[in-house]
Amino acid sequence: MKILSIDTSCDETTAAVTEGTKVLSNVIWSQASMHAKFGGIYPSLAKRAHEERIDWVINKALVGIDAVAVTLGPGLAIALEVGIKAAKKLAKEYKKPLIAVNHVEGHVLSVLAEPKNLKTEKLKNKKLITSHQSLIFPVLSLIASGGTTQLILVEEIGKYKIIAQTSDDALGEALDKAARMLGLGYPGGAVLEKISKDGDPNFYPLPIPMIGQEDKLKFSYSGLKTAFYKLVEKEKPLTKEKIQNLAASYQNVAFQHVERMIKKVVEIYPVNEFWFGGGVSANIELRRRIRSICRKGGIALYLPYSKKLCTDNAAMIGVAAYFKFGRKRFLNPNDLDKVERVPRAKVDKRFPWE
Ligand code: KG4
Repeated sequence: MKILSIDTSCDETTAAVTEGTKVLSNVIWSQASMHAKFGGIYPSLAKRAHEERIDWVINKALVGIDAVAVTLGPGLAIALEVGIKAAKKLAKEYKKPLIAVNHVEGHVLSVLAEPKNLKTEKLKNKKLITSHQSLIFPVLSLIASGGTTQLILVEEIGKYKIIAQTSDDALGEALDKAARMLGLGYPGGAVLEKISKDGDPNFYPLPIPMIGQEDKLKFSYSGLKTAFYKLVEKEKPLTKEKIQNLAASYQNVAFQHVERMIKKVVEIYPVNEFWFGGGVSANIELRRRIRSICRKGGIALYLPYSKKLCTDNAAMIGVAAYFKFGRKRFLNPNDLDKVERVPRAKVDKRFPWE
């Protein structure tokens, strides 16, 4: 349990965060020099100085940090802007370095995040835990989310090569659209997964995208989406059973495309480790299929330790920032006003202000 405590009992404005008996931050703003002029404490002056500093010490204690990190992109331009503005303000206010992180790099490195209490989490979540013994580069990373589907070669942390990406829809987006066609609501990927459990994955024949053309190293979901749309229209009115079979058949084919692509890419780029992140990595069925490919190829599979780390989150940005901090890859403090969103940022490119 973390407790925020405040003490303004005399001439120190202070705030701290403790966890059990562990001190996470302990911030003190002393008024001593101000009172010194009067040879003693002047209560009304103390009150005013506390009022001036109270928010500052609380924020600082809450933050208790060495650096601020923020996603510059890729993402929705006006959404990115909100976080960037807040991060710049914090970095300036507390005079901390600002670290810019690529959202996709965050997903890639999300598999390296560790729970604070490894033992308890291990017991709670035996299946998900992935503690790295050692990293053997290069590593292959699959990021499948609502915004992107990419196979990335991680040559080392911070050095990425995009091996394959989608030429149209992302996998998560394709799952979301199919769920919408079936009237299953949002978020589609997770609902589709649930419904598919009760359906027959081979009930409806659907075209596997890019079949036999995996060496083009491209993901594509638009053809499957169109075929599915026609099928759904043909099957209307939809019954519960039809929906289950449609969902299972679609998910099956969408995932077969991923499996085929992974098999092709590990053939070209032999690796010891495979990392899987992004919203769709929460999918148990896709994990099972990828685990099977990895097992056969003698490749170790790593996943984020919790589902919260699969979908968008800031902890993965913190992990990526930690590695950048180690390399002193900060934004130039003189450039902070110029730093802005990069909605189409690529994981293999540096930000201009770094
Ligand atoms: O990583 P994320 O939160 O957002 C982006 O950066 O795009 O991923 C969201 C995507 C959505 O398309 C959602 O349907 C999908 O991840 N998703 C899932 C599951 N949970 C979330 N897809 C398949 N199975 C799931 N259990």
